[in-house]
Amino acid sequence: MCWMKFRTFLLIAGFFGASLIRLTPSDEETSISGGELVDFYDPVILWWTPFGSDGASRTCGKFKCIFTQDRVYWNHQNLKAILFYGSNLEIHDLPVPRGSGIKWGLLHEESPRNNLMFVHQETLRLFNYSSTFSRFSDVPLTLVDLPGEEDLLSKKYFIPTKEKNRLMNEENLSPLLYLQSNCDTLSERDLYISELMKYIAVDAYGACLNNRKLPGPLRDNYIGRLNSGELKKFVGKYKFTLAFENAVCEDYITEKLWRPLTVGSVPIYYGSPSFKDWLPNNSSAVAVQDFKSPKDLAEFLHQLMKNDTLYEQYLSHKLIHEIRNDRLLENLRKRPKGLFSVFEYYLRNFECQVCEKIHRNESRTVSKEEYNCEKPSEKFNYNRKIVKNSWIDVWNIEKCGGKLLTEYLLKNQSVKSTEFNAKKMEMHKENKC
Ligand SMILES: *[C@@H]1O[C@H](CO)[C@@H](O)[C@H](O)[C@H]1NC(C)=O
Ligand SMILES: *[C@@H]1O[C@H](CO)[C@@H](O)[C@H](O)[C@H]1NC(C)=O
Ligand SMILES: *[C@@H]1O[C@H](CO)[C@@H](O)[C@H](O)[C@H]1NC(C)=O
Ligand SMILES: *[C@@H]1O[C@H](CO)[C@@H](O)[C@H](O)[C@H]1NC(C)=O
Ligand SMILES: *[C@@H]1O[C@H](CO)[C@@H](O)[C@H](O)[C@H]1NC(C)=O
Ligand SMILES: *[C@@H]1O[C@H](CO)[C@@H](O)[C@H](O)[C@H]1NC(C)=O
Repeated sequence: MCWMKFRTFLLIAGFFGASLIRLTPSDEETSISGGELVDFYDPVILWWTPFGSDGASRTCGKFKCIFTQDRVYWNHQNLKAILFYGSNLEIHDLPVPRGSGIKWGLLHEESPRNNLMFVHQETLRLFNYSSTFSRFSDVPLTLVDLPGEEDLLSKKYFIPTKEKNRLMNEENLSPLLYLQSNCDTLSERDLYISELMKYIAVDAYGACLNNRKLPGPLRDNYIGRLNSGELKKFVGKYKFTLAFENAVCEDYITEKLWRPLTVGSVPIYYGSPSFKDWLPNNSSAVAVQDFKSPKDLAEFLHQLMKNDTLYEQYLSHKLIHEIRNDRLLENLRKRPKGLFSVFEYYLRNFECQVCEKIHRNESRTVSKEEYNCEKPSEKFNYNRKIVKNSWIDVWNIEKCGGKLLTEYLLKNQSVKSTEFNAKKMEMHKENKC
């Protein structure tokens, strides 16, 4: 989804040229005409999957690089790096042979669900630079969905506890909100939540576990209105919001956590095991991982429902107007003020990091740490009748994919998708990965 939003942005920005994009003060940029091979002395960095800067000479600190999406530069003598956007990387369309000394960079903020190959070391080590959700990548995208410090503190959509209690009665609201329409996930969140629903009431409005209809205009298309004031106001009415990621990866944190936090509904979070590192205060969310079972979690939530003082301990960012987390603040305050787009800021940072590293001749091999996801499991299968988590097989098959891809690349061979997939399945069947 993020990718779609961003692509739309790029298309619009493309029409107006670079002037629309707000640059950091050190950035200087001149356009170069697309399609022409120009004999520059500066390193050329090519986006293989169309993304990011196209046809621009940019100054990054003390250094300069040419950024392009035009594959005519693939054979350019100054080509130093090729960058990929993870979701769009396609096996049958890779720059083969990989010239010696050409560095590869991977940018991917999205869930591994969009390209499960990257959860495996076999695939990651093909790359030399990374910008992923992980804090260990060159340019971490952990906070890419969090607008800013002011949004965490703002009371624009915040509804005080007394008012929430009143609304619950008047509008017959449950204590918990669940709003999700992608129901087949690696994390199998719906299995956990349907068990939880046996012990505490949940209003489920999306396609998943639906038991209630959204009000007014949100009903037709809430997904297109995820960032609207309407939706934020709606979420703000709820004491708690279920914020379950579709996959469990270190630092993979999405708007599912940030939206309730910014409107002042307490998130009940499942996803990155270390997510508390990024909360405004250690107790700004309820962590599913802290409870033995959905039943235990429900019991705890009933306690908070009975005692407003206890409940309000989770809202210090709104009620005391305070963020007590140096890691979070430092990261948010690094961003220049008045950003046109948070994503654009990180993207340009990544491009510039690659540029500087090339000039400094710094390179490495990307490691598992930079895309650290938990293998899907059956731990939420409370109902023995439910069939096995099919994502386990997909996960294992993609491990073969990574291994096979490396073999092809080392032989300088390109491959058709059908052939690749058949071989990958064969390797999986023969337990070769
Ligand atoms: C693959 O191509 C690269 C760059 O053209 C070359 O250096 C390398 O020797 C080739 N490897 C094989 C196995 O052909
Ligand atoms: C609510 O919780 C607070 C904080 O733990 C406690 O001091 C208070 O006695 C509780 N109130 C009731 C009615 O249980
Ligand atoms: C979180 O906020 C509470 C106030 O609600 C405060 O007492 C507590 O010290 C804060 N926790 C941390 C780790 O700063
Ligand atoms: C939050 O609590 C954990 C232990 O529960 C602690 O390790 C961590 O340092 C705390 N974080 C902050 C920001 O105080
Ligand atoms: C860059 O580093 C590589 C490997 O460390 C080395 O072989 C190469 O000579 C270096 N190139 C320059 C221009 O310093
Ligand atoms: C860049 O990645 C390639 C592919 O894994 C690897 O062969 C190469 O050694 C890496 N380059 C450096 C300088 O680490």
